[in-house]
Amino acid sequence: MTYAAFRSIGAYVPEKILTNEDLSKMVDTSDEWIVQRTGIKERRIAAKDERTSDMGVEAAKLAIERSGLKLEEIDMVICATISPDYFNMPSTATIISTKLGLGNITAFDISAACTGFVYIISIAKAFIESGMKKNVLIIGAEKLSAITDYTDRGTCILFGDGAGAAIISATDNKDEAIIDVHTGSDGKYADLLMTPNGGTGSPHDSIGQEAGACFMQMKGNETFKVAVRTLTKDVKEILAENNISSDEVKHFVPHQANYRIIKAVGDALKMRDDQVVLTVEKFGNTSGASIPMAINDIYESGKLKAGELMLLDAFGGGLTWGSALIPFSPVK
Ligand SMILES: CC(C)(COP(=O)(O)OP(=O)(O)OC[C@H]1O[C@@H](n2cnc3c(N)ncnc32)[C@H](O)[C@@H]1OP(=O)(O)O)[C@@H](O)C(=O)NCCC(=O)NCCS
Repeated sequence: MTYAAFRSIGAYVPEKILTNEDLSKMVDTSDEWIVQRTGIKERRIAAKDERTSDMGVEAAKLAIERSGLKLEEIDMVICATISPDYFNMPSTATIISTKLGLGNITAFDISAACTGFVYIISIAKAFIESGMKKNVLIIGAEKLSAITDYTDRGTCILFGDGAGAAIISATDNKDEAIIDVHTGSDGKYADLLMTPNGGTGSPHDSIGQEAGACFMQMKGNETFKVAVRTLTKDVKEILAENNISSDEVKHFVPHQANYRIIKAVGDALKMRDDQVVLTVEKFGNTSGASIPMAINDIYESGKLKAGELMLLDAFGGGLTWGSALIPFSPVK
């Protein structure tokens, strides 16, 4: 039997910092309000000429280097993003693949918003377990600042830019294997979190290019409630189905949307503070990039060791959600 192992992690964080203080000069808000409601103090903003693929490439270089793989051993690239270099095509994954010099391998993007990284773990796992691919580079990369309306205080305080990447590889050692991945969706909540304009539902020719074509819109309060309810149910189920107690989880790595959502789900699982990975304070919500950026954070600070069990959970536009139980399995 072939299993899929989570081999390595990498991330890229843009230099420019946008603080709550900076935002309070742009919209009617305050550091106190933002910290109290979200836990966010600052977020990173990509340079004007820095594209999503550029950030993805930097994160991927680290993940590849840390995996010990040669470039020619990688046989597929998947990128999760809602802020691609180009609308519709070409995919950001093909651009990243070519910038890295990976050759003519399979490369594609997926759209699952903030759950994107969990979705691409499940896709990589399926390709590897079926024997179709051996070493898959997965990337969550976002330049959300490009699709954020900086006159809307309900959204602009939340989002930031960045990228994270991982290598998922084939193994015959079950102890190294990704244990389980859950993915789900419910389109009846589509209007809670969306970029309403620019697609076939509201094409560019009817709205005009200047009308903020691709900005995100959100019903924050409702999104908050559905997020807590859905995530709590999903993470409880994945633990129960695999006979794993929350105590056995070394690192709970939730999507970094809002400290209060993370706290509510963590409390429902009876997670101790030392189990919960938090980067929302310094990076805000980076959608599909947030989980790999958080895993990279504990990796680079020396907290993530071989064999330790991670529980991931995510929630985002669609609505989509997902969770995963993954031992960190670097090549020894
Ligand atoms: C966006 C969010 C922080 C707003 O917090 P909230 O406690 O739900 O606040 P509400 O939307 O109910 O608004 C309460 C008041 O604060 C105001 N407000 C909204 N944003 C504000 C801001 N940035 N600064 C100051 N006041 C603000 C509202 O206008 C409202 O004022 P009113 O009572 O006079 O009408 C919160 O709903 C949230 O984080 N939701 C989840 C969003 C999320 O994670 N999305 C991504 C999922 S992947």
